[in-house]
Amino acid sequence: MSLFKWVFQDWAVNDGYRDSQLILAWFRLAQRAHSGGGLVGRLFCVFYRLFTSLFLAIEIPAEATVGPRLRIYHPHSIVLNPGVVIGADCILRQNVTVGNVVRRDGTEKGVASVGDGVEFGAGCVVVGAIHVGDHARIAALALVLDDVPPRGVMMGNPARLVRVDNPASANGMVTPASATSRTDSSNG
Ligand SMILES: CC(C)(COP(=O)(O)OP(=O)(O)OC[C@H]1O[C@@H](n2cnc3c(N)ncnc32)[C@H](O)[C@@H]1OP(=O)(O)O)[C@@H](O)C(=O)NCCC(=O)NCCS
Repeated sequence: MSLFKWVFQDWAVNDGYRDSQLILAWFRLAQRAHSGGGLVGRLFCVFYRLFTSLFLAIEIPAEATVGPRLRIYHPHSIVLNPGVVIGADCILRQNVTVGNVVRRDGTEKGVASVGDGVEFGAGCVVVGAIHVGDHARIAALALVLDDVPPRGVMMGNPARLVRVDNPASANGMVTPASATSRTDSSNG
């Protein structure tokens, strides 16, 4: 897909959020520079990382795999690990972290991967070698350490699966997650 098309798609879903649109265009440019390789591309990525971290106070690395039509509401203090994989049509909010866990002995647990259409609430942290299924919703301030099923809703610290949304239900809302092993947990 051309750079123009990436940017156009991001801009369309972030209509009205000029800050998010500009940041996403900046990020897609860095992504393109990173994938293109070469000295100029690498130098640009160094500049991108420093500028984005120091002046925009976010870390969305050029190395990260981020699908099209990302929405960002309030683009502040967002931190993504360079190894993260995020699908299409996701939503990030302020203070979201998707990253790694480093154990006391220095070894790493790995980085989360995220499916399509996942919504991250403000201030949530999603870490470790886990997978967040398609269309899951991560509540504001949740700390997610375990896999999330598709359309799962995670809340609390540590986050628990409180339900699995059912797209086929009449009100578009939920099926109680009582069939899962974690539903007796509190909301955190
Ligand atoms: C996770 C989320 C998507 C669920 O939305 P929802 O399905 O409409 O859930 P409801 O608001 O009906 O709340 C259901 C229950 O979860 C609780 N809850 C909601 N959000 C919660 C959270 N972040 N942490 C803990 N519990 C939460 C509610 O108190 C309610 O509890 P109750 O049933 O005992 O009354 C939503 O709560 C959320 O966190 N969205 C992110 C919003 C955000 O970050 N906004 C930032 C704007 S700048």
